[in-house]
Amino acid sequence: MLLTQVPNYYQKRRETLIKAHPGSVFILPAAPELIRNSDVHYPFRQDSNFYYLSGFDEPESFLVLSSSQSTASRSSKMTLFVQPKNPEKEMWEGERYGVDGALQVFGADEAFVNSDIEQKLPEILKGAERIFYRLGVSESMDRRILAILESFRRSQGRSGRGLVSIEDPQAPLGEMRLFKEPEELDLLRKACHITALAHRTVMHELRPGMNEGEIEALVDYQFRKNGCQRLGYGSIVAGGKNAACLHYRSNNENLRSGDLLLIDAGGEYGYYTSDITRTIPVGKNFTQAQAQAYQLVLSVQKAGIALTRPGAKLPEIHKTTCELLVDGLLSLGLLKGNPAELLKNAAYRRFYPHNTSHWLGLDVHDAGLYTIEGEPRSLAAGMVFTIEPGFYVQPADRETPETFRNIGIRIEDDILVTSNGCEVLTREAPKEIAEIEALRS
Ligand code: GLY
Ligand code: MN
Ligand code: MN
Repeated sequence: MLLTQVPNYYQKRRETLIKAHPGSVFILPAAPELIRNSDVHYPFRQDSNFYYLSGFDEPESFLVLSSSQSTASRSSKMTLFVQPKNPEKEMWEGERYGVDGALQVFGADEAFVNSDIEQKLPEILKGAERIFYRLGVSESMDRRILAILESFRRSQGRSGRGLVSIEDPQAPLGEMRLFKEPEELDLLRKACHITALAHRTVMHELRPGMNEGEIEALVDYQFRKNGCQRLGYGSIVAGGKNAACLHYRSNNENLRSGDLLLIDAGGEYGYYTSDITRTIPVGKNFTQAQAQAYQLVLSVQKAGIALTRPGAKLPEIHKTTCELLVDGLLSLGLLKGNPAELLKNAAYRRFYPHNTSHWLGLDVHDAGLYTIEGEPRSLAAGMVFTIEPGFYVQPADRETPETFRNIGIRIEDDILVTSNGCEVLTREAPKEIAEIEALRS
């Protein structure tokens, strides 16, 4: 179904971007349409930056953002190049907005069919001081855009104006996307709410003997039923030892009582994704060793959340996570030695080989710099990120006592930094042992 109007926050974002980069031209192609096999395509999802600036989600299009020369009230000008209306194609593939829709629904200042870009882009580039275009995503797109830039450069003769630098738009857009506006938080909250409900449903419905794939489908169904358009990333549904494979995607083994089940799955709502991991017993209860390891990861995760406030830094949260994990692993007898040494030589990586956090938003590993001039950046209100410590025993690890084998645990929540602390956006997904065991029985 086509929209008749989009919210005006897209326009505000364009203004903000161009005000910060006057004289620049941003050239953003739509996400490429990828063939899966034969004539079957992967489902199309618009490029996150393109969507962030326009809300326009058709393939084969270009968004060009430049400084406005004519409208006094606006500093930015959006030109959309879109698929032409075509009744024959639309009968097969669905309705298109066409040039009129680009103007009327998406508020483009001008719009053309996509094949006009060779002719029209040079006009927009006149007087540009800098071009933002992401090289290296698609070779054929690079060739097409660079050919336009080259012919533009030639047309400039010896004015010297042809020497315009090309920069990656990810840097300025990442900086904007890192700080979530209220309308973005509404969508993220919704994604987190739906995702938490889906994890809760699994805690209730899971039975020994079910297949990992069945649980994957159940999560997917809950997301879609509650309004998510798609998944934010491929779900990890990993029973027993499979959870030690960090990017496990097979999701096709039967689940056995006595094992744990790790589910890392997030629904995408209005293009914003949640990212939740929960680890639960396939049977009714955690074994004693599973509960000990789980409680350790949970207390470490809560310590990370407690540190979150403006001014804190992600590497500090990671460092505390590692320190507390080392202490806990020493208490459980799974590591031996001096804590400072174990931290220094990263001995904990045998059980915890990944990082603790990443930004979250339109992309699961969202845009935004982690360091500024080589220094870790400080957290500030409006940033959203994950805290996801874990404990994994690799199947080949024969040194770890039998009771701790076949265990992979991760507990992951999505955290919004507020003016005086933080808000756990995914708090509706149970994580206390008592809550989980109550749902399992
Ligand atoms: N689901 C991907 C991650 O946790 O980073
Ligand atoms: Mn994550
Ligand atoms: Mn995750």
